[in-house]
Amino acid sequence: MHLKRRWVAAVALFALVGLLASCGGGNDNQQAGGSAADKVEVFSWWTGGGEAKGLEAMIADFKKNNPNIQFVNAAVAGGSGTNAKAVLASRLQANQPPDSFQGHAGAELMDYIKAGQLEPLDSLYDQLKLRDAFPQQLIDQITFEGHVYSVPVNIHRANVLWFSPKVLKEAGIAKPPATIQEFITDLKQVKDKTGKIPLSLGAQWTAAHLLDAVMLGDLGVDGWNALWKQGADWKSPQVTRALGDYNTILQYTNTEAASTDWQLAAKDVVDGKAAFNIMGDWAAGYFKELGKTPKVDYDWAASPGTDGAYQWLSDSFTLPKGAPHRDAAIAWLTEAASRQGQDLFNPQKGSIPARKDADTGLYKDYLAWALEQWQSGKLAGSMWHGVTANNAWHTNIDTSVGLFLKNKDVANFQKSLVDAATSGLAQ
Ligand code: GAL
Repeated sequence: MHLKRRWVAAVALFALVGLLASCGGGNDNQQAGGSAADKVEVFSWWTGGGEAKGLEAMIADFKKNNPNIQFVNAAVAGGSGTNAKAVLASRLQANQPPDSFQGHAGAELMDYIKAGQLEPLDSLYDQLKLRDAFPQQLIDQITFEGHVYSVPVNIHRANVLWFSPKVLKEAGIAKPPATIQEFITDLKQVKDKTGKIPLSLGAQWTAAHLLDAVMLGDLGVDGWNALWKQGADWKSPQVTRALGDYNTILQYTNTEAASTDWQLAAKDVVDGKAAFNIMGDWAAGYFKELGKTPKVDYDWAASPGTDGAYQWLSDSFTLPKGAPHRDAAIAWLTEAASRQGQDLFNPQKGSIPARKDADTGLYKDYLAWALEQWQSGKLAGSMWHGVTANNAWHTNIDTSVGLFLKNKDVANFQKSLVDAATSGLAQ
């Protein structure tokens, strides 16, 4: 009897704690149910080194606009979401979605949509008049069967060649290379004349990012875009040539950096340790955070062979089905969609706004160039950052790159890319 009373008391206490948590009294780690607007858990991979600043600026504005909603930042470290995407996949699998998560516009987002993991956002788009706010080509990449599924917060450029004016001068290179062949010549020249790192590289994903840029440089926009559509020819001599060039370029990279992320590789350029780095323009946000001076500590150009091409990607936020705090998630999406939110976020992040009506005066130096290039450039999607290949195809390419970095067998590499494309296009 005594024992039973204790058991009843324990159950009652448990129920009370549960009730308090769902009323907003829980801490950040508790999973509360319902659609309460008391807190919002936002999932991304922006944790630091140029990644977090922009997010923090948008969070501050969100808190000002929503003083009653607690913001839970569920960012998982690791450039380009390598770790975050795995964590997210297991949460979605277990039906424990965050309230909103970062996903790339294009094929990556389509995966989530087709798996039935996202709610459409048509009414939010109508309410906030977002169909007019974003460029049509971007809306197309987040729309499936007539419904729109995410809120794009930015447009990043992947094909940027960052370089150290000092190291180039030391190597006797007057201007950045305009073609892949010029690039190879310059890399050799840096190596021979300065002994510095010709092209800095970081974790394996940065090598996959480099592959995107080299292939675009050799194949051109039309050739690149054709690789992701039915009828794509990955066996072509043009692809063989691009992969051969990629192999040559890799010989000028620093292999000891493979255990670091993109930040340290980019930092080699602004520290005058490396001549070149090919990285997306989140590097501009990082250089700003480091207090580096554009055109002095670093300069930029289209990655070799890609002048006039914008290899784009876009970070967007979603509303997962079963989001524990749906109303708060809508409040977050409203912030992410707003002109104010985007103008606070992007100048720090190193991206241009997804909205067409942003305050262009806020986008200076590299970003002024990016804005102008976005208007005039020909669009090519980024493979590594989710535009052209879905998650399965992306994983297969990643595996092929990993193997190639070890064995440097170009023929085998091409064969595995052909196989990856065959199954990728069949889905
Ligand atoms: C990209 C993402 C960018 C940036 C980058 C490096 O995939 O879209 O916003 O975070 O990874 O982590």
